[in-house]
Amino acid sequence: MPEQSYNVVTLIRKKRDGKTLSESEISWLIRAYTDDKVPDYQMSSFLMACYLNGLNTEEAAYLTRSMLHSGIVVDLSDTEGLKVDKHSTGGVGDKLSLILAPIVASCGVPVPMISGRGLGHTGGTLDKLESIPGFTVDVDLERYKEILKKQNLVLVGQTEEIAPADKRLYALRDVTATVESIPLIAGSIMSKKLAEGIDALVLDVKFGSGAFMKKHEDAAELAKTLVGIGEEFGKQTIAYLTNMEQPLGYAVGNWLEVKESIECLNGEGPEDVMEITHLLAGTMIYLGKRADSVEEGIKMSRIAVEDGSALNKWIDIVEEQGGDINVVKDPASYPEADVIEDVKSERSGYVTEMDAFALGMVSVELGAGRKAKEDNVDPRAGFVLKKKIGDKIEKGETIATLHTNKKEMLDTAKKGIVEAITIRDIEPKPLRRITHRVDMDGIHDYDG
Ligand code: URA
Repeated sequence: MPEQSYNVVTLIRKKRDGKTLSESEISWLIRAYTDDKVPDYQMSSFLMACYLNGLNTEEAAYLTRSMLHSGIVVDLSDTEGLKVDKHSTGGVGDKLSLILAPIVASCGVPVPMISGRGLGHTGGTLDKLESIPGFTVDVDLERYKEILKKQNLVLVGQTEEIAPADKRLYALRDVTATVESIPLIAGSIMSKKLAEGIDALVLDVKFGSGAFMKKHEDAAELAKTLVGIGEEFGKQTIAYLTNMEQPLGYAVGNWLEVKESIECLNGEGPEDVMEITHLLAGTMIYLGKRADSVEEGIKMSRIAVEDGSALNKWIDIVEEQGGDINVVKDPASYPEADVIEDVKSERSGYVTEMDAFALGMVSVELGAGRKAKEDNVDPRAGFVLKKKIGDKIEKGETIATLHTNKKEMLDTAKKGIVEAITIRDIEPKPLRRITHRVDMDGIHDYDG
């Protein structure tokens, strides 16, 4: 039967007036747009109507399905076991993928991970991986499947075949002020994740100054929408709400974060990074049915670090994807940035607040990130914090060390660091790193 066709103006008007669209209407519109039968100006108007009036869970799922089927859904059936991935909504110093992917793979759960690049204040896993000399993230789908089958892990960038409709829609949203819509974000994320060929998904949804969603309530709403879509597609999905009021760990910048990840895999990781890593990894191991509970998964995750199997898996995947394993085994052999300078504290007291967004922008100024999609990143640039929220500091003590090849940016970066970190006399209350778990039964307080 030929597919029903619609009048675009009628669909825009319907959404403008707050009405609900059917699956057939949404799927037709996305297909017509992808086939160049609907112009950008009409799609922009439709997106703005979605932004202003929202989409319900069913509509968000229809949108996801249409974007998902604009490309291929990878068939990973030649790799045994339930495939589980993790997605983070992005943060500053968020290097968790680099640590948990080899942990989970070494515990027997296949991890097909398709990641993105950094833009603005948040970093991207692909840029971090590419800071390892020779590491290639551009592989075709056959090689993607081959690496996964051999290593139980693959770490690559998005290919043209994955959700092409999202690529076009995202570019349009970017220039029409319609990015910040929870159902549109959820559809965009889930269409790409579902196309990877996964069986289950763990989501790290961040809130706070360094997160995409600053407000906790918005992050909670996004997590609920993402989980709802995942379940609608028959994929078990669990999300955690995690704090991004300060960078994760100490290192911010591509190679600096890889180096910190290697320390984590060597059992010397910062507490905040390891707590969230083990929780997300433990949940993935549980969803991959290699543990009977998340708690047991967390234990397995800790053991994989302690006995070196996660580090060995990391070395294997770096080698498999063409990377230089010598820098992984001996990070000190990696060439440093031309300029390395300390930033000193201008007063004594306790670190009480950090503007993680501003810190992310300092790393961009130093060369670690992009202001526009086509910019290159400098793998060696970034900074390493010496203090985190709650730490005591003396006047003149080092608060962060900058790494850059742009000497001319040093003064701006130093000023940026000093302004982004608040120091007061009174010790602050400890931050709650993980506040909630969201699953198919709803949102639950997380108390560890
Ligand atoms: N990340 C995505 O992949 N899509 C969005 O819409 C926002 C963040």
